[in-house]
Amino acid sequence: MELLEGIKTRRSVRSFKDEKVSRETVEKIIESARMAPSWKNTQTARYIVVEGELKDKIAEEAVLGFQHNTDIIKGAPQLVVLASVAKRSGYERDGSFTTSKGQQWEMFDAGIAAQTFSLAAHNEGVGSVILGIFDDAKVAELIELPEGQNVSALIPIGYSDKELPEVPRKSVEDLLTFK
Ligand SMILES: Cc1cc2nc3c(=O)[nH]c(=O)nc-3n(C[C@H](O)[C@H](O)[C@H](O)COP(=O)(O)O)c2cc1C
Repeated sequence: MELLEGIKTRRSVRSFKDEKVSRETVEKIIESARMAPSWKNTQTARYIVVEGELKDKIAEEAVLGFQHNTDIIKGAPQLVVLASVAKRSGYERDGSFTTSKGQQWEMFDAGIAAQTFSLAAHNEGVGSVILGIFDDAKVAELIELPEGQNVSALIPIGYSDKELPEVPRKSVEDLLTFK
């Protein structure tokens, strides 16, 4: 898929066919996602693919009671938990923060990783949606996330079962200023 076409045609997918995404296809997606830029090339993003009962437990117990996200995760064949290795992005070697944004750079890197993942998935015909409404501590507990990592986002994946609607976007004039 051509780059701009991929950027412009990606949509959040929230309703999926039963078909699973093969391990081979997930590996292919990560092969591209790993090229995402990161703070000092620290490459802190980690991807954990969850399915079956554990996925449904996350849907039921770790989305802060937000039924919309419960339904999306339960309906997806697989859930990717995007985790970040803590205390790297935004930090100096001595453990101090490099800038006034402190540890916000960790989530910044996670955001780039999430979008790169989503576009790479789209290129494989795999739909995804980035979810921000979840209980990080509960997800970490349920998936037994290693110490020193944080849950940054949940990304259900699968094959869309319907046509996706156009989603409105602001105009270039709304977004761009030259000084
Ligand atoms: C940081 C972030 C958090 C999001 N959280 C959720 C969420 O919890 N549930 C949901 O259904 N969509 C969520 N979305 C998806 C957005 O609603 C979606 O990207 C936006 O409406 C634009 O639609 P599009 O992705 O189809 O272009 C999130 C997106 C981002 C980037």
